Order: sequence, then structure tokens, then C-alpha cells
Amino acid sequence: MKKVLVLYYSQSGQLKDVINSFISKLPDSEIQVDLKAIEPIEKYPFPWKFYEFSQEFPEAVLLEGHEVKEIENLEDDYDLIILGYTIWFLAPSSPIVGFLKSEQAKKIFNNKPVITVIACRDMWVMAQEKMKTLLNDLNANLIDNVALTDQGKGIYSFITTPKWLMTGNKDPFWFFPPAGILQSDIDNASRFGQRLNKVLKEDKEKEGKALLTGLEAVNVNGKLIASEIIATRSSKIWAKIINFFGKKNTFGRKFAVTIYAMFLVVLVFTIVPLNILVRKILNKFQKEKLTELEKKYEQPSGR
Ligand SMILES: Cc1cc2nc3c(=O)[nH]c(=O)nc-3n(C[C@H](O)[C@H](O)[C@H](O)COP(=O)(O)O)c2cc1C
Repeated sequence: MKKVLVLYYSQSGQLKDVINSFISKLPDSEIQVDLKAIEPIEKYPFPWKFYEFSQEFPEAVLLEGHEVKEIENLEDDYDLIILGYTIWFLAPSSPIVGFLKSEQAKKIFNNKPVITVIACRDMWVMAQEKMKTLLNDLNANLIDNVALTDQGKGIYSFITTPKWLMTGNKDPFWFFPPAGILQSDIDNASRFGQRLNKVLKEDKEKEGKALLTGLEAVNVNGKLIASEIIATRSSKIWAKIINFFGKKNTFGRKFAVTIYAMFLVVLVFTIVPLNILVRKILNKFQKEKLTELEKKYEQPSGR
């Protein structure tokens, strides 16, 4: 009997739906699947209010982690761990980081093959680099990564995702598509569990190699990588500045996040369009480099 542990933290239930679809064809008489939700001790709101949302920024960026409840009834001999997580401010969400830094995680992840499953707006590449470090610290072995992103990519989801997060409403409006991941993408995630059902019976997880190759587990857009790297660096600096102004719910913190939000608005109307233009020109001369970068960040599963 193979034993698979599936862990996730989802607010609206979107990642939960992805995970449920992912594992729908996995269990049978030879494969046991234990599905466990990670629960923060102090719950986060959903939908969010502006200041609740923006105040989470420093702790998320600096990977401080949010304290979570111990997970009950875990066994200690899992053959594979599937970890579902969302992205908060270009980093793994704070409850996931909190869990990965817990004593319990140290015990269950040690020396285990891990598959990460991401469901987010559109920017997960740098967060996955942080995830690699967190898993490395636990002596876990990342063998696959699957990433599903919101429909109406790029510029549309910059509007539709925050609107959904702050109203709870995913409906389309004006010329914008609905928020969140396409239902068909969620349904099709069952192909990953189906593959695992086969390869676990062949003991393939013991080889330490990717199990989900050739299934379009990820699709990295090379043109976005430079922006993600710049945004990740600048967010670290801002996170430290905002932290300096005060802890959560203090006047100093609210003042600093207001200044940061204003800075972002100015950025969106000045530097961002300029950056898009410059990148469009540069990308024409860097096609090979972009393809190389895509391949690098699409590891270990690839397309
Ligand atoms: C505080 C916060 C910050 C977020 N930052 C990002 C981000 O940097 N990149 C991204 O692609 N998605 C971002 N998202 C979207 C989430 O990754 C995810 O798609 C959404 O919260 C729905 O997940 P759920 O299953 O927990 O409801 C953010 C969401 C929240 C709540």
C-alpha cells in the first residue's frame, strides 16, 4: 500500500478545488490518500479589506510565516507529499510558510519526495524559488511542480484578481473575463493524479525524478521573469521600510502601506509602460536567453 499525504491552505476554496481535482483519480485499493487542510491559529479574512490585505505585505515578503494549528492524525511513513499553495506578494502564502517552519513539518518532510501545486494569479516563479529553499531546509526532495494561473492573464487579472479578493465576486464585468482559474483547467488537473496512480505502482517516486513530465504541468512566460525578479527585489526593500514604520494595525504600518500603494500607482502609470516598451525591444534580441530561462524555471516537471 502506497501512502500519499496531501496538504494545502486555501481561502476561497479555489486551491482546494484544484487539489480535489488533482487527486480525484489517485486513490484506489493500493494507494491511500490523506488530505489535510492547513489551518491558521488566527484566521485570515475573506474577502479582504484594503488595509487587512496590504498590511500582510511585509510578513509575507520576508517569509516570517503565520502560526498554524498542528495537523492531527498524520502517519510518519508517507511515500509522497503533495503540497498545494497559493502566492501572497510573490512568496508562498504566510500559513504555508508558517507550517513549513513548524516542528511537525521537520518530522514529516525529512527525506520525502514532494510535489508542489500552485494556484495563483500569474506570478509564481520567484515564490517557487523561495519554496525550494524552504523545502531544502527540511531536507525534502522536490520532484515536480504544477502551476495553474488565473484566466485573462497579465493585464486583465491585475484588475480581476484583486477585485475578487476584496469583494468575493468572480463575475465578469465590462470587457474583463471572470476572476480566477478557468473551470476547465481545474477539471483537467485530474490528469496529474491519474499519472501518479500509475507510476506509484511502479515505485517511480523512489527514483527522485520528475513524475509529471509531458503533462504541461507548468508554462513559464520568459517575458515576465525579469519583471518578477525586479519586483521581488524591490518588495524586499519596501517590506523592511514598512516594518520599520510599525507592526500590524498600528498607525505607522497603515501610513507606510498607503505610501507604498501610492508609489505602486505612480509606477503603474510611468515606469511599467516604459518597462513594457523597453522589454519588447530587448526581448526581440534575447529570444534564446528567454527560452533558456523558461526551461530553467519550468524544472523539474517541464511542459
Ligand atoms: C494577500 C494576497 C497576495 C497575493 N499576491 C499574489 C501574487 O503576488 N502573485 C499571484 O500570482 N497571486 C497572488 N495572490 C492570489 C493568490 O495566489 C490566489 O490566487 C488567491 O488568493 C486565491 O487563493 P485561495 O485558494 O486561497 O482562495 C494573492 C492573494 C492574496 C490574498
